[in-house]
Amino acid sequence: MKARPGYAPNPADQAGDSIEALREAASTCRACPLWEKATQTVFGEGPAHAPIMFIGEQPGDQEDLAGRPFVGPAGLILARALAAAGIPREQVYVTNAVKHFKFEVRGKRRLHKKPVDAEIAACHDWLRREIELVTPRLLVAMGATAVRSVLGRSTPIKLNRGKLLEYACGISLLITVHPSFLLRMPEEDKDEEYRRFISDLKLAEPFLR
Ligand code: URA
Ligand code: SF4
Repeated sequence: MKARPGYAPNPADQAGDSIEALREAASTCRACPLWEKATQTVFGEGPAHAPIMFIGEQPGDQEDLAGRPFVGPAGLILARALAAAGIPREQVYVTNAVKHFKFEVRGKRRLHKKPVDAEIAACHDWLRREIELVTPRLLVAMGATAVRSVLGRSTPIKLNRGKLLEYACGISLLITVHPSFLLRMPEEDKDEEYRRFISDLKLAEPFLR
């Protein structure tokens, strides 16, 4: 992705060649301003050579406190949908496009704020190195931020979901919605949207084998 004016260089390329070394290096990343208010870097987790990598947006409130991706409400939906699609969560690698929680304080609550393009670009080096080291056969980009990081540009999710795309060097790409999109749906649309999400995830299942 493009250079990021005013931001520090991302140290991802100086880190050693293992996910653990990468996680350690990311824990002190200051390549964009998001580290300052967040509790900690939330790095990806899962088997070192998982066949499928799921990519979300950024950690939420609970992930920021726990230091682990997708452990809050969006994580619960993802876990349910993975189970429904026949994908054991422990067999896949789960990460985010942006690794610090961006929020604004409202009273006692910390409300999620969307990362801007410069933050997505600043954090992209971590994701790129995760992909290089894990070498999954399939990337699942969930939501606009993940898509933007993976492709380096925005593309409509509606037009691209529900089919396997070519990413690079034998890696396939599946674009789908972010699980928190399902949380925000009006009640009457929830079931149908959830079913569509599961049917997208079912396209990922054969990559386990
Ligand atoms: N939403 C995300 O995109 N990632 C998380 O880890 C949690 C919520
Ligand atoms: Fe570094 Fe990403 Fe955190 Fe920004 S959000 S400080 S690029 S780890």
